[in-house]
Amino acid sequence: MSGHGTPIPMQSRAGSPLTGTALIPGDKSVSHRALILGALSIGETRITGLLEGEDILDTAKAMAAFGADVKRLGDGEWLVHGVGVGGFGEPEDVIDCGNAGTGVRLIMGAMATSPISATFTGDASLRSRPMGRITDPLVLFGAHAYGRTKGRLPLTLVGAQSPHGVRYTSPHPSAQIKSAVLLAGLNAAGDTVLIEKAKTRDHTERMLRGFGADIETVKTHAGYEITLKGQPELKALDIAVPRDPSSAAFPVCAALIVEGSDILLPNIGLNPTRAGLFSTLVDMGADISFENRREEGGEPVADLRVKYSELKGIEVPPERAPSMIDEYPILSVVAAFASGKTVMRGIKELRVKECDRIDAMARGLEAMGVTIEEGEDYLIVHGQSGDVKGGGVAKTFIDHRIAMSFLCMGLATREPVSVDDGAAIATSFPIFQDLMQGLGADIT
Ligand code: S3P
Repeated sequence: MSGHGTPIPMQSRAGSPLTGTALIPGDKSVSHRALILGALSIGETRITGLLEGEDILDTAKAMAAFGADVKRLGDGEWLVHGVGVGGFGEPEDVIDCGNAGTGVRLIMGAMATSPISATFTGDASLRSRPMGRITDPLVLFGAHAYGRTKGRLPLTLVGAQSPHGVRYTSPHPSAQIKSAVLLAGLNAAGDTVLIEKAKTRDHTERMLRGFGADIETVKTHAGYEITLKGQPELKALDIAVPRDPSSAAFPVCAALIVEGSDILLPNIGLNPTRAGLFSTLVDMGADISFENRREEGGEPVADLRVKYSELKGIEVPPERAPSMIDEYPILSVVAAFASGKTVMRGIKELRVKECDRIDAMARGLEAMGVTIEEGEDYLIVHGQSGDVKGGGVAKTFIDHRIAMSFLCMGLATREPVSVDDGAAIATSFPIFQDLMQGLGADIT
């Protein structure tokens, strides 16, 4: 659980170029899903490369609370003995998902069609985030939700007694909404159909297929229509979790802005629904090569080689937003070092992440001497052609990606960059500081 302890102020400063090999931890999205689907399947699911960040450890604890047998065998190696679709038992205590929006939302979906109740909570960040976007479709299956105003946590979900599949059009481009509906559909009779206008990350669909579910995506005039046949028997699967592209984004972007850098990042997940940042960086002139492209565990991966590059600002295509939604904070840092303006539009979902990320980046960039323009769904960063002052303190609002973005920024600014609290980094990238120091970064 993050956000409960004492704040950890951190600082970064310019120094040597970044060089060497960065072994990025496992993908957070895939790790949550591996534990949850392992818990809903019959037999033993062996997971390798699992992210051991706080968000994932909270999901592992939750799966045990619902009755699965979850064991850690060694570094990133876990065994989940599942209870089968419909086999969840009622947890004896409150489920605390810490900082994890994905954790709590997917788990709510997974339990909403079982005849049990559970109460969910989280840290101050998670308790401030909207849950109505998840409980609205879950209620259609017959579940009942009792949360605070605007559906905020703590929230009690009473699972449906005799759930039937639903047809639901997601009002937001959100893989969490899609996944919650599909996971609820597993224990519902008949088909569950989820329609999304823009394609969001599809790890749930890929993994469900791997576990033996009957699931199909069809492109229609309305967008992407995903149909899942209810009440399948999911069979345990061995899962090799790819390394997280969203975590890789930090050393990748740091190398691009620190002169003389040249780093290698093996085995990075490059699912097209996640890889938008890399396309954007290449559009800005980044020297990134994708070596040994291959498929591992149903997900495309490659080794990334990244060298310092002089970048130019661009207009990021708004339709690319779902495939790089978590990367706008670090992109806005890179944009400050580019020449010309970088325009990021269609990003209002950033306002409901671990914090309001448009506001957090705007205020932090201003504190570092960068000119920005912001609106409800856009952020424009005026690039300073490599010469950025820094010297300020960025507020991080219990948000791991805000903290890591500003720490990367300080590696290339004239004056050091401070963040008020880096504690949340442990939710997704517990080895961030060690890994960056290993590449030559000065982060204390
Ligand atoms: C995630 C989906 C995204 C993303 C989050 C992880 C997932 O959230 O921001 O970090 O694993 O499904 P939304 O679905 O709310 O866009």
